[in-house]
Amino acid sequence: VSSTDVERPPIAPGLEGVVVAETGIGDVRGLEGFYHYREYGAVDLAASHSFEDVWALLFDGELPDRARSASFADTTSQLRALPLELRALLPHFATHALPLDSLRTAVSLLGSESEWEPILDTTAEQLHSQALRLCSVVPTILAAADRLRRGGEPVDPRPELGFAANYLWMLLGHEASDETVRAVEQYLILMIDHGFNASTFTARVIASTGADLAAAICGAVGALSGPLHGGAPSRALDMLDEIGSPDRTESYVREAMQRGTRIMGFGHRVYKTDDPRSRFLRDLARSLGAPLFAFAFEAEATVERLLEELKPGRELHTNAEFYAGVVMDTCEIPREMFTPTFACARMVGWTAHVLEQAAHNRLIRPSARYVGPTPPAPVPPR
Ligand code: ACO
Repeated sequence: VSSTDVERPPIAPGLEGVVVAETGIGDVRGLEGFYHYREYGAVDLAASHSFEDVWALLFDGELPDRARSASFADTTSQLRALPLELRALLPHFATHALPLDSLRTAVSLLGSESEWEPILDTTAEQLHSQALRLCSVVPTILAAADRLRRGGEPVDPRPELGFAANYLWMLLGHEASDETVRAVEQYLILMIDHGFNASTFTARVIASTGADLAAAICGAVGALSGPLHGGAPSRALDMLDEIGSPDRTESYVREAMQRGTRIMGFGHRVYKTDDPRSRFLRDLARSLGAPLFAFAFEAEATVERLLEELKPGRELHTNAEFYAGVVMDTCEIPREMFTPTFACARMVGWTAHVLEQAAHNRLIRPSARYVGPTPPAPVPPR
């Protein structure tokens, strides 16, 4: 062991437990099974508020009063339309791509079309307007991308509808019931923010370089697409399909674990107890009368028991994604749109974090421990 090894701090694989910044946006308390936006429990907000009010809370720092609530909802509802150039280009790439991949491309185009300057050269007010525009137009991009992929035509946004109702309108092409709209709205509120998760951290790293907002969000979308992060809810439903019936759950899980396959929708880096999002979504799925609820509920108990047997002490419970799929399926959201729907919500969290990063910026630049052959070796002649 060299003296430099002794001086260096220990490596935290996956940056687990490493605190890299201060944030006033929210936090996750993994041992308590609690998370919050600003000073309010996120689950309490989902139970009582609109998506737009929670969005305003993250952007403004406080819950809006009645007047601010109406003006915020009105302002953002006017920012939903696709720019003409993007509308013309979307069919060229959305027809064959997954919606989240189309979103990455579209955000990139939107940034250059709107001439978004590097964050380093952008005022706080300009960045705030860009963030409002982005969060408002993303559901339009995703719904249009999905419809084009299915051989249909985009449906224009309706400013008189709330965020969730308008999203479902554009996606499904018909108005959803009040119960469905509220269920989707509550899901969206639950998913707005969640500490320094991989995609949020990615957005902050890119923002810290002073690059433009579109660059930060393209990176975040890329991170979210990974199955270990946001790409799990459709896989969780695929798994239920593969299992087929409750009596097959045990053999399925044992075989999967023997192959080293992870059980989707279970486990979390921070929660070592029930994920509060999972608790809320489980109740929501039950109250919606979700066709898959009974099977999912039974599967959850069996999987938890087997994970405790096969991975004792790891505390692997359902995460947000397991019942998210069950809820979205009941609300007619197609499977390929599960992670994109998550992205509509998380866009608010990502952009709030970019605003915060920009306001108190220092380039994020960690170190790695070199473990290759000892340098300096003589460079062999050519
Ligand atoms: N199925 C089987 N085993 C698991 C699972 C799982 N879902 N999750 C963790 N484990 C096991 C690991 O194999 C590991 O075992 P070991 O100690 O014998 O090596 C142990 O539990 C700890 O796993 P880590 O990978 O260290 O846990 P980490 O904190 O890195 O993982 C993660 C968190 C990625 C979410 C993991 O639990 C997982 O892969 N889950 C499945 C994918 C999923 O549901 N993703 C959605 C996350 S929620 C969200 O992003 C909104």
